[in-house]
Amino acid sequence: MALVRIDKIVSSAGNFSRKEARILIKSGRVSVDGITVKSADEKYDPDEKSIFVDGMKLNFEILHYFMMNKPAGYISSTDDPRDKTVLELVPEEYSRLKLFPAGRLDKDAEGLLILTDDGQYCHNVISPNKNVYKKYYVKVDGQLTKEDIEKFSEGMKMADGTEFLPGKLEILSENEGYVYIREGKFHQVKRMLAHIGKPVLYLKRVSIGNLELDPAIEKGKMKKISPEEAALVFGLKAQ
Ligand code: URA
Repeated sequence: MALVRIDKIVSSAGNFSRKEARILIKSGRVSVDGITVKSADEKYDPDEKSIFVDGMKLNFEILHYFMMNKPAGYISSTDDPRDKTVLELVPEEYSRLKLFPAGRLDKDAEGLLILTDDGQYCHNVISPNKNVYKKYYVKVDGQLTKEDIEKFSEGMKMADGTEFLPGKLEILSENEGYVYIREGKFHQVKRMLAHIGKPVLYLKRVSIGNLELDPAIEKGKMKKISPEEAALVFGLKAQ
């Protein structure tokens, strides 16, 4: 977590107004790791420090968000008896957080995966009602055509009755493109492309809403993102 002003920490974690927090600080009633805070301008990382008001420890409940570049070979689950899970890629320093993936990627798929401990956020990312578009780069076996674009825009019904809402296909080359969908049904992109006779050879999620995978994150690595960045997922409809 980034450094935060001590008056802000005290007011949000201790349920005081900002003014009350400043008065507490001025009267020497706030301490950080045993040292009395002298000024409301001081900044601390509430994840790293123990902060007290009148000797009582503040419980600074912060929610965490991470962007991972998921490699193939890992499943997007918190626990699995057979397979490696993406949690095995979480660095030691964050292992005490109870993180889970906000949305799934297949074992063989790569790219943007958000890990968080915010259950409500996770629910909103997954819910089709929130209209969060996920964008996937795909490589397919076959030649993508204008008719395929049409089919994606109409939505699809599979032989087993599963229906997929309208999405979007953008063609990059004869066998590469971007697919945008707002649901996250099981194997959805693969099933839609298989349905039109162009099975997926490679699948990578490149963005969720307005949140794009940072190209600087190597496969299998992750970086912390701010709540504001995490909220970018709710910003985009299919372009
Ligand atoms: N669609 C798929 O088929 N697989 C994924 O991992 C994500 C979307």
